[in-house]
Amino acid sequence: MPFRVRYTGLISKYMDLLPISDDARVIGLGEGNTPLIRLTRIPRELGRDVDIYVKYEGLNPTGSFKDRGMTVAVTKAVDEGAKAIICASTGNTSASAAAYAARAGTTCFVLIPDGKIALGKLAQAVMHGARVIQIRGNFDDGMRLVKEVAEQSPVTIVNSINPYRLQGQKTAAFEIIEELGRAPDYHCLPVGNAGNITAHWIGYSEWAGGGDGPLTGACNFCDGRCRFASAIVDKRPRMVGYQAAGSAPFMRGGPVDDPETVATAIRIGHPQSWDQAHAVQRESDGWFDEVTDDEILAAQRMLANHEGVFCEPASAASLAGALRDIESGRIPGGSTVVCTLTGHGLKDPDTAIAQSGGAVETVDAELGAVRQAITAHL
Ligand code: F0G
Repeated sequence: MPFRVRYTGLISKYMDLLPISDDARVIGLGEGNTPLIRLTRIPRELGRDVDIYVKYEGLNPTGSFKDRGMTVAVTKAVDEGAKAIICASTGNTSASAAAYAARAGTTCFVLIPDGKIALGKLAQAVMHGARVIQIRGNFDDGMRLVKEVAEQSPVTIVNSINPYRLQGQKTAAFEIIEELGRAPDYHCLPVGNAGNITAHWIGYSEWAGGGDGPLTGACNFCDGRCRFASAIVDKRPRMVGYQAAGSAPFMRGGPVDDPETVATAIRIGHPQSWDQAHAVQRESDGWFDEVTDDEILAAQRMLANHEGVFCEPASAASLAGALRDIESGRIPGGSTVVCTLTGHGLKDPDTAIAQSGGAVETVDAELGAVRQAITAHL
């Protein structure tokens, strides 16, 4: 497809569909445009006639889907004259906020749960120059404190309660429609605060036209020849949200005070988009479910091992749940399923190494020993 302009990020591509003024200084890092990868070995092994795609959001500039929302939130914050931005985070939001603040030349404060964020995410926040405040508490405590601080100080919150975040994140749905030429039948996501599942539903709903007829021809990227420009979408997917079992307020019917899971990104007991997520579930005729830490880690390993795609544990919750629902028939044969892989596996090397078992073997630096190590696996 011949491109009219170089890809510089989702704001320039979807300008007409985002609340950004033409003269705003865009704070971007080339986010979006992530691959939609069709799984091959896993569906074959499953023996079910289901098309499974993964939307690999770990390939955004800071390694997670947060960049989609952050480019819009920080562009708006700067446009509106903000002096500083602030967020509470389980790690990815802080990494993303720190990077976009650095790009903008703005101060960034991040509140993170003491000792409960993956190493890569902490390294990112520090390297991008954020003021990192570890609190002796969890994400939900951090979120409460951020809201209180923002009432008294001139700081803009860039958590997903900032509506511009969801506006940016809705573009993932646009990209999926663009690639498939239609919406999938099922869209599966890991759920923490439930901002991302809400954002995807906004994207699908806008594209379907909300009763006013579908949008067409809104792509600023090519000359209107891509599938996005011509896709007629009259159907939206059923949205399915999976939570970690130890941190599943949507399954418990109310807040969870001491959430616990190996998937630290979704270790959240008081989701900020509680009502919106329930509306998504009702409107899309979807559902919530929970997956255990063991199922999450097994799905993470399977993806890395059988498909060459490395995501962080929280992201694998979407595939873990989808595989179970495909096997049980709740997601029927013949369906097209998209699972969002929200963050890159390199974010959390500790968890990856801890489950790698005997994958690393040390031998003497001589031919016989190396040949022996190889022959054992041929
Ligand atoms: N997956 C990953 C890798 C995440 O980092 C998050 C959220 C989610 C899924 C859940 O998305 O909250 O929109 O339902 N991480 C936030 C953070 C809370 O601070 O980085 P959600």
